[in-house]
Amino acid sequence: MTIPGEKVYPRTNDTNTIYLKSVITNPNILVGDYTIYNDFVSDPRGFETNNVLYHYPINHDRLVIGKFCSIACGAKFIFTSANHTLQSLSTYPFPLFFEEWGLEQKDIACAWDNKGDIVLGNDVWIGYEATILSGVHIGDGAIIGARAVVTKDVPPYTIVGGVPAKEIRKRFDKATINKLLQTSWWDLPFDTIKQVRPFIQNGDVEELVNRLCSTHT
Ligand SMILES: CC(C)(COP(=O)(O)OP(=O)(O)OC[C@H]1O[C@@H](n2cnc3c(N)ncnc32)[C@H](O)[C@@H]1OP(=O)(O)O)[C@@H](O)C(=O)NCCC(=O)NCCS
Repeated sequence: MTIPGEKVYPRTNDTNTIYLKSVITNPNILVGDYTIYNDFVSDPRGFETNNVLYHYPINHDRLVIGKFCSIACGAKFIFTSANHTLQSLSTYPFPLFFEEWGLEQKDIACAWDNKGDIVLGNDVWIGYEATILSGVHIGDGAIIGARAVVTKDVPPYTIVGGVPAKEIRKRFDKATINKLLQTSWWDLPFDTIKQVRPFIQNGDVEELVNRLCSTHT
């Protein structure tokens, strides 16, 4: 059995793909089990530096990523310190240059509009070089198309694409989405997921639900 928090590389001879959780050191970045990041341009272990941008502890904003997500090469998460405040008459970040302007260093965060955490649910697939902006929440099972810029929340099991990202379609009908959300299969023990994996993989939601019901009774 794999212990994803400890193992870095899930595949033998593939150092482009990592279990993301295993390389995270920043307490404001939380990543669930089995979530993978692939990078064939830079070392994927540099995710915190190369992909999580403008993310400073002073803002207390967090990147929260669920379990079983797939994050493609070059995806970027852009945080609060990128948002020069729009509350002022100028977007020039005076508080950042506090020495020059005789301001208090403690007020430095006034330079930015804090839009909050970026939160990804479980089983989210982020496409190549997609960009997720601060404050965005992405639901379980959603797909973010390649090179999308996501500015608004994405509901569960919804595919979005483009700049700004718009809904392309739902992945499944409403009843199937509800069943999948109810199973929350990603939270089940490893051995149970292993048993029902064929039905997840083959798109057999009825059998998935049946097997899980019989496991719990
Ligand atoms: C979004 C995606 C998953 C395809 O979803 P789909 O529902 O099968 O989409 P389709 O190919 O049927 O296209 C449906 C519409 O979405 C548009 N579309 C597809 N991908 C898009 C994208 N990345 N950005 C913007 N629009 C996109 C298509 O042009 C089409 O538009 P139309 O209805 O106006 O003709 C896929 O295009 C994509 O971006 N995959 C990510 C691939 C990737 O980055 N992989 C990294 C390695 S893991």
